[in-house]
Amino acid sequence: MISPRYSAARFATAYGWPEYGRWVEAARRWGGTSHCWSRAAARAAARAAAYGRPWPPEPDDARPLLDRDPDVNPESPPSPESDPARVVGVVGDTHLPYHHPDYLGFIVDTFRARGVTEVVHIGDWWDWGQVSRYGVDPDLPSAADEIEAALAASREWYAALAAWPVTVVVGNHDARVARTAARAGLPGTAMRDLREVYSLPASWALAPRVEVDDVVYLHGEGLGGPRSAPALAIERVGGSVAAGHWHALGGAWYSRDRRGALRWRLAAGCGIDSSARAYDYGRAAAPPVLGCGVVSEGGRRADFVPML
Ligand SMILES: [Fe+2]
Repeated sequence: MISPRYSAARFATAYGWPEYGRWVEAARRWGGTSHCWSRAAARAAARAAAYGRPWPPEPDDARPLLDRDPDVNPESPPSPESDPARVVGVVGDTHLPYHHPDYLGFIVDTFRARGVTEVVHIGDWWDWGQVSRYGVDPDLPSAADEIEAALAASREWYAALAAWPVTVVVGNHDARVARTAARAGLPGTAMRDLREVYSLPASWALAPRVEVDDVVYLHGEGLGGPRSAPALAIERVGGSVAAGHWHALGGAWYSRDRRGALRWRLAAGCGIDSSARAYDYGRAAAPPVLGCGVVSEGGRRADFVPML
């Protein structure tokens, strides 16, 4: 069996070294398997040196998040780089092509009504249901047909969200291709860039995580269970955090960090079609909550908007 750190190295190779560095650094902050990520980081540093690339990729990003704003006070003012006029719309897990048919319209209507200025998709953009360690379901479309359907659905999203800059956070389903390839022994250099597979428009970015207005947006693996205390997630990330991954939960919970600053955890819900066979595994135990998130006031406020 290939170790997690080795898979991480393959995954990171597929997505590029700068993102690898950010991803590993984020993983180390989350804790839990820090020894693995430390070794992955050491491997990354060695390879970066071999390729003549800077390490760490971005010194600012390598600093602990808690040290970024030493003057933050309990009134939780916006961080210096925050923009009060910025409103971030958070799209939940879509799992194309097994998304709810009304979800895109709901997103566009909500984002326009709320004055959204930029968009973060919280991960699991595509489902990749036939590409996983759980095997092939013969009653689902083939992997090739699923990709074709997901591409067709993606193009609708690209057209509908053309007014906004969009960043897609890499979810565990998005990572299935790289992880499956790694298990089969394929090096990252033999793989297509996921942006190319998704045919992402130039205005769309793909990243393991993203920070806007001192808020961390990530998919949610390793963040703690859906009903764990929001303070735990805030502690692990070092600030307010927006996440997806848990389809059965939507909402925003506020807590104070160790300095007394008001922080929040947002669960962005999802946009899946729960009647799809691909979601058989979760329908009974965890029926989905459809909706999206809206982050405003310089990152100090998060709202969950349910799709009713
Ligand atoms: Fe998901």
